[in-house]
Amino acid sequence: MFFPKKKQAEPRPVPDHIAIIMDGNGRWAKKRSLPRTAGHAAGAETFRRIATYCKDIGVKYLTVYAFSTENWKRPKEEVDAIMRLLDKYLREAIGQMERDRVKMKFFGDVSVLSEELRALIARTDEISTHFEGCQVNVCVNYGGRDEIMRAARGWAEDGFAGGEEGFSSKLYSSGIPDPDLIIRPGGEKRLSNFLLWQAAYAELYFTDMLWPDFTTADLDAAIDEFDRRTRRFGGI
Ligand code: IPE
Ligand code: IPE
Ligand code: MG
Repeated sequence: MFFPKKKQAEPRPVPDHIAIIMDGNGRWAKKRSLPRTAGHAAGAETFRRIATYCKDIGVKYLTVYAFSTENWKRPKEEVDAIMRLLDKYLREAIGQMERDRVKMKFFGDVSVLSEELRALIARTDEISTHFEGCQVNVCVNYGGRDEIMRAARGWAEDGFAGGEEGFSSKLYSSGIPDPDLIIRPGGEKRLSNFLLWQAAYAELYFTDMLWPDFTTADLDAAIDEFDRRTRRFGGI
């Protein structure tokens, strides 16, 4: 009897490091006549799904922009709601990180966050040292300019040692390769102070999809597009 060979999915290259500007939560909620905070809650669920998927397909680093140094300009209720969601997310993640093989690191000045949040962050840092896995960098109170200013100060203290590498080692992303692909849902075509130094040769992918609607199929589409691009890094 003849059995047609089962069609195997073509193995495709997956970027080592994907970064995502998780934008469009507010508009997603507005479209549904919901409060903006409902959009942030939906966005947090999307983050959970996408992080798991990245780990499953072999992405080594996922960096997500969750709260910028400029997002403090928003109404206090919205900021408080985002911080509560972060608290909830971390409490749930702590028990699952090791099982799921997802390590977590924070980029940004977290010293200004609540004591509870800082304790949760310290706990996730500590757990992440115990196993190997996909590393998720969560950018909270993060700004590219702030990061560069801090790095410049640290580099100056070191007497400007080590050239570009010496400087890079002072960034939050020290030891982590630059992002290969930066994805921005939400329709805006800008970086909004995200990974300004590290984005030098990243492939940029913009989509009008609002972050809470973003699915694993949308991530696949972004990766497919990335695979079709030619990266030259200034060469020929
Ligand atoms: C991104 O969604 C989440 C944060 C910046 C915290 P927004 O809240 O910016 O959503 P829009 O851009 O207003 O739709
Ligand atoms: C960028 O989104 C920050 C995050 C997604 C955390 P914003 O919504 O703050 O960016 P702008 O204001 O549209 O540039
Ligand atoms: Mg926005």
